[in-house]
Amino acid sequence: MKLVPKSPNGSSRKAETLLSLGDPSFRKPVSRSRTIRIDFRDGAITPESLMDKFVIRGGNPLVGSVRISGAKNAALPAMAAAILTDEPVILENIPDVRDIQTERNLLVSMGADVELGYGRASHRTTISCNNLVNPEAAYELVKTMRASTLVLGPLLARMGRARVSQPGGCAIGARPIDLHIKGLERLGASIKQEHGYIEASADRLRGGHIIFDKITVTGTEDLMMAATLAEGETIMENCAREPEVVDLAALLIKMGARIEGAGTHTIRIHGVEKLHGARHRIIPDRIEAGTFVIAAVLTGGDLQLTNCDPDHLGSLIQKLEECGVSIKAGTDSMRITNGHQLEAADISTEEFPGFPTDMQAQYMTLATQSQGTSIITENIFENRFMHAGELARMGANIKVEGSRAIVRGKTPLSSAAVQCSDLRASASLVLAALVADGETIIDRVYHVDRGYERIEEKLKGVGAQIRRIGEILPRRAAAPSVVA
Ligand code: EPU
Repeated sequence: MKLVPKSPNGSSRKAETLLSLGDPSFRKPVSRSRTIRIDFRDGAITPESLMDKFVIRGGNPLVGSVRISGAKNAALPAMAAAILTDEPVILENIPDVRDIQTERNLLVSMGADVELGYGRASHRTTISCNNLVNPEAAYELVKTMRASTLVLGPLLARMGRARVSQPGGCAIGARPIDLHIKGLERLGASIKQEHGYIEASADRLRGGHIIFDKITVTGTEDLMMAATLAEGETIMENCAREPEVVDLAALLIKMGARIEGAGTHTIRIHGVEKLHGARHRIIPDRIEAGTFVIAAVLTGGDLQLTNCDPDHLGSLIQKLEECGVSIKAGTDSMRITNGHQLEAADISTEEFPGFPTDMQAQYMTLATQSQGTSIITENIFENRFMHAGELARMGANIKVEGSRAIVRGKTPLSSAAVQCSDLRASASLVLAALVADGETIIDRVYHVDRGYERIEEKLKGVGAQIRRIGEILPRRAAAPSVVA
């Protein structure tokens, strides 16, 4: 059976159709799961979705409750981990976003069976890799989602070979994967790079000592997965400590892996002969939650976020408190209220538990509305200020100097036609539009769809005026009248 994309992130929308939860084009609930074969093209960006835009009229305070989805950046490595076993891996709380569709397509292209839950179980997916035939990640998929390189380690560990397209640069920086490659070589893999592909092989990986030159999130995840099936012990130092790494380790341990130290700088993995199936619930998306926190603060609203983990948002909460915001955190919920003037505060992006680079763009929008000057320093990616120019077009006063952006607030924002350049930059533009005077049109919202589940519905549900539209085609010109 073929998967027909029917989510708002899919391609089966009609131009100018505003989708809501009651829209019939959403998946109809059925009582059971079904195995699906996904059309290879479904995850690709279709010309139709390329045309989607948001129209947002600013000025409404956001009031009410928003349920946070599962973390895209935890779900992606978890899905790749299913490659490590021939038994089914059941993942719950998977977000319905385009990157996840792309990863499903990638797994299916290798021969995996991917089962999707429907109706109430629509955020569950079961992946069976008992018949992997094609250990390859093709350029068409990798170019739309760099996280596809996460299959490199698992394929090599399970099948002894992998052919994965080199990702190349992207909008936010060069983003090399040399640390993944060096690490796999330390585990005994032979790696060739030719014709734009990484070709890796190993009879069986063997444990080794890896010291990452630089902290890398997916590098830590890729190598941790590879080492689970290696012969002997692997010690990895200077590892990423992000909650997504910890979540992946929790899944791998349920699958039978022997891992200690995830969440610290040193991870030890005792390789085992075989991993088995498991069921795992993906952690909430801290970046989606953070984006809604800023939406509440900016609009002077009162938002309750549910199904989130405030412990993963410590640096953001602390910074916002410095700006004068009041946040009440529960165990899996947060309430954000803001009725007074924000004060400027500087941020500097760092690896977890520092201020996340994935929240830098959204924070920049906030800084345009704070009283005083905020200095934003981006330390993780070399080109992650693309949103600054678009925010300036809406009236922001931002000066970019290398890795620093100097934001002078408070400047009123006014509506404009703006364009998304990457996932988090898009979120910053949505936030700006929520407080801008007039109707902002945001183009290229396929970037938003990569990582935010039904953002327009969630925002509309708490009072935002937001509409998704396809390209508005000009009326057919009337036949020219004959001029004598
Ligand atoms: N780096 C290297 N060599 C490598 C790997 C990384 O030089 O082999 C460098 C990068 O160029 C960058 C730094 O190390 O300067 C950190 O990159 P990292 O590898 O940690 O990034 P990533 O694993 O590719 C993940 C998230 C990103 C998030 C970063 C940083 C996923 C799927 N992606 O990327 O998420 O920004 O960590 O936290 O987990 C997003 O969701 O919008 C997003 C970009």
